[in-house]
Amino acid sequence: MRPPISAKTRIAGVVGAPVRHSLSPLIHNAWLESAGLDAVYAAFEPPADRFAAFIDGLRGGVVLGLNVTVPFKETALAMADEASARSKRAGAANLLRFEPDGRVLADNTDGEGLLAALAAQAPSLDLTAGPALVLGAGGAARGAVAALLDAGAPKVRLVNRTQSRAGALAASLNGPIEVCASAAPAALSDVALIVNATTLGLGGGAGPEIDFADAAPTTVVMDMVYRPLRTQFLGAAARRGLATADGLEMLIGQAAPSFEAFFGARPPALDVRSLCLRALQETP
Ligand SMILES: NC(=O)c1ccc[n+]([C@@H]2O[C@H](COP(=O)([O-])OP(=O)(O)OC[C@H]3O[C@@H](n4cnc5c(N)ncnc54)[C@H](OP(=O)(O)O)[C@@H]3O)[C@@H](O)[C@H]2O)c1
Repeated sequence: MRPPISAKTRIAGVVGAPVRHSLSPLIHNAWLESAGLDAVYAAFEPPADRFAAFIDGLRGGVVLGLNVTVPFKETALAMADEASARSKRAGAANLLRFEPDGRVLADNTDGEGLLAALAAQAPSLDLTAGPALVLGAGGAARGAVAALLDAGAPKVRLVNRTQSRAGALAASLNGPIEVCASAAPAALSDVALIVNATTLGLGGGAGPEIDFADAAPTTVVMDMVYRPLRTQFLGAAARRGLATADGLEMLIGQAAPSFEAFFGARPPALDVRSLCLRALQETP
């Protein structure tokens, strides 16, 4: 049981716009309650043009730290006094910590979340066995590409509707990244992993166009979208007999290191996935 909220209760949270849909308060507060920690995790939605003032006002440790979501991740990184190598590489921060001396420290745990989801749901995946195909070139794709290369993927193929954006991402990450015009059979046949890092599929719409018949049977397919949990993209991959990993597991995977950064303790063993599934009105 969490102690009653008092003047000593510590505060962390998530900032975004919109943020009302966020599952992070559900996840973190369940962990806090289970661990019996005297802390709360809230959600903040400042007007976009007041974000910088909001963050500056928290300098000094009034709040322990914040997860950061769309559309503030890039600004959050830019505002930090110190940033981890992985947040700089991702070009975005999903985690800010407020030090008592006024400094703001930035980190990015999204890539860790992606790898945690793959480890949990597709343990047979050997990232070193072949290229990874990443669909998308936004903030999430950028974090994914950096994390996959750091985790040993020999190459990343990048496909995006706006090809120039994929080119810019590849140039700035400076690694074995090949920009492809489409997910044609040649781009698919030897990949170990396919990741949807676009917004396609959100709300139940069609996912990125891809013919999973062109992929090897050992290919793992991951979708960052988790509303709905079973996207059309993952459904098509599963019908092809491919192993899949979902965006909810990634969300929980990025929340765990955030919890540790805020509260100085690893999250307790607790089935937060089931809580999230209930909130999403999904069946296990
Ligand atoms: N599960 C998690 O923990 C987690 C964490 C982070 C993000 N995400 C999810 O990842 C997804 C991407 O997020 P983001 O922050 O990277 O967004 P973003 O920066 O806005 O990028 C959106 C991407 O989707 C592409 N796209 C949008 N509409 C498209 C369309 N009609 N056809 C083809 N491509 C389209 C964009 O292509 P263009 O460049 O051509 O516009 C771009 O590559 C979102 O669904 C987000 O919820 C999940």
